[in-house]
Amino acid sequence: MKVLKIGGSFITNKNGYKSPDTKHMIQIAKTIAQLWKSGTRDLMLVHGAGSFGHAVVIKHKIDNGVRTVEQKIGFADTHAACSELSLFLVKALVDQGVPAISIPPTIIAKQKNKRICDFRFEIVNNYLNAGYLPILYGDMLLDSDIGGSVCSGDQIMAWLGKKAEFLVFATNVDGVLDGKGKAIPLITKDNFDEISMHLKETKNDVTGAMKGKLQELLELDNVSYIVNAEKPERILALFEGKETICTKVNPKKQLD
Ligand SMILES: Nc1ncnc2c1ncn2[C@@H]1O[C@H](COP(=O)(O)OP(=O)(O)O)[C@@H](O)[C@H]1O
Ligand SMILES: [Mg+2]
Repeated sequence: MKVLKIGGSFITNKNGYKSPDTKHMIQIAKTIAQLWKSGTRDLMLVHGAGSFGHAVVIKHKIDNGVRTVEQKIGFADTHAACSELSLFLVKALVDQGVPAISIPPTIIAKQKNKRICDFRFEIVNNYLNAGYLPILYGDMLLDSDIGGSVCSGDQIMAWLGKKAEFLVFATNVDGVLDGKGKAIPLITKDNFDEISMHLKETKNDVTGAMKGKLQELLELDNVSYIVNAEKPERILALFEGKETICTKVNPKKQLD
C-alpha cells in the first residue's frame, strides 16, 4: 500500500477560517488522476484539516479534552468542517475520473490521551480491494482518557506507516528547508537536532506543523518523503521511484 498525504496548508488558506483553496484542490486532483490513470493502485490518500480544523478547534477551545456540552458541540462542528473539506476534495477527484471515497476517521478510530489506540483498518481495506481510492483525514476522535481529541492527518499517516511500503507528504514547501530555504535531502535521527533549529513555530496549527510531522516520521520503521504539492512532476517522480527535489526521512539510516 502507498499513501499520499495532502497538506492542509496546500488545499486551504491556513490563515483563514474554513477557507478552501479551490485552485490547489483542482491541481492536486489532476496530479492524483495522472497517478491513477497511469495504473497506480493500492493507493490511499490522507489530507490535513488546514483552516477547516485548526481554526475551528481553537475557536471552541477543544484541544485539551471534550467533556462539556459546549465542547461536544465544538467536537461536532470541527468534525463537520473536516468532513466538508474532505468532500470538496472527493468532488474534485470524481470530476477527474477517480473513484474517491471519503472515510471519516471519527467513525473508524479512537484515541487514548491524544494517540490512536484503535483503528478499524478493514473498513478502509474493503474499499482498497474493491478498486476505490479511500481518503482519510485529520479529524476529531473519541478519546478514552479526555473525552475527545484532535487526530492530525500526520498521526494517521504515522499509524498507516506500520502497514504502508511508501509514504509521501505533499505540502506547500519544497521539503524541510534549511536556513537558506533549500530542501534538506535527507533527515535521520542523527541530524534531527541540528535541523530542529530551522523548524519555526507555525501559527494556527494545533498539531505541531512541520516539527510535529518529523517527530511522527522519525518514530516509524519506513522511509517517507516530503515534497512540494505545487510541482506535480516531483510527486509523480517519487511514485516512479526516481530522484527529485524533496526531503527523504529515513529513521533507520545512520548518516555517513
Ligand atoms: N524549516 C522548515 N521547513 C519547511 N517548513 C517549515 C519549516 N519551519 C516551519 N515550517 C512551516 O511548516 C509548514 C508545513 O507544515 P504544515 O503547515 O503542517 O503542512 P501540512 O499542511 O502539509 O501539514 C510550512 O508551510 C512552514 O510554514
Ligand atoms: Mg500539518
